[in-house]
Amino acid sequence: MMPRVLVTGANRGIGLELARQLKEAGWDVIAACRHRSPEIEGIGVRIEELDVSDDASVRALGERLRGIELDLLINNAGILHDDGLAPLEVDKIRRQFEVNALGPLKVTAALLDNLKAGSKVVIVSSRMGSIGDNTSGGSYGYRMSKAAVNAAGVSLAHDLRERGIIVLIVHPGYVRTELTGGKGLIDPPESARGILALVERAGPEDSGTFRHVNGDRLPW
Ligand SMILES: NC(=O)c1ccc[n+]([C@@H]2O[C@H](COP(=O)([O-])OP(=O)(O)OC[C@H]3O[C@@H](n4cnc5c(N)ncnc54)[C@H](OP(=O)(O)O)[C@@H]3O)[C@@H](O)[C@H]2O)c1
Repeated sequence: MMPRVLVTGANRGIGLELARQLKEAGWDVIAACRHRSPEIEGIGVRIEELDVSDDASVRALGERLRGIELDLLINNAGILHDDGLAPLEVDKIRRQFEVNALGPLKVTAALLDNLKAGSKVVIVSSRMGSIGDNTSGGSYGYRMSKAAVNAAGVSLAHDLRERGIIVLIVHPGYVRTELTGGKGLIDPPESARGILALVERAGPEDSGTFRHVNGDRLPW
């Protein structure tokens, strides 16, 4: 049987590319997104509406997918708002928390029954969430929300270990997408290839680790 994956934020950027490559590799792909795009429609996969910041939307997705097994869940949806200290932009910080930190945790919790022994959960985080790697400051909401989702990823790894589910926390590289305003060192296809290579070789010993897409361990 075809392995099945659900990717959040699959209408553009890294998520779109993950969906495309997984489909090409023979996976049954469920592309979850707020808005359909011609690109995701062109791939020919099942599309499910999902706003990860909306509790009812997450709950409804869980209900629609009841009984459908997932071999892989990729929590990719995320936002970056540039927020500073003076003035402190609390609303922007809160919004990034809702999407980047609570989003992956809520989606994973809503789909727990869809996961089975051997399933893998990926959290597309960012090295901007690394406290040890923070040498430049700023980006309060993004850094805090990604540090928080890293904490959630470690707890998920512990809580799901007994069920044989592996949780990976991944920095996708500096990728040219809308999120970065087109800046970056690599394009989405290279990032997606790297993420999928990491996922493929991940074993139980890798669960709860924070990895650069090149495989290196990142500091918390
Ligand atoms: N690009 C980089 O250099 C880089 C570096 C480190 C980490 N990351 C992480 O990689 C992930 C993907 O980012 P990207 O670079 O591919 O950015 P992107 O092109 O801006 O794509 C972001 C995706 O997230 C979706 N999204 C945003 N808010 C959502 C919500 N509330 N519910 C559901 N989907 C939502 C967007 O959908 P809409 O079209 O509906 O907005 C879009 O599909 C993010 O988690 C980001 O933090 C990226």
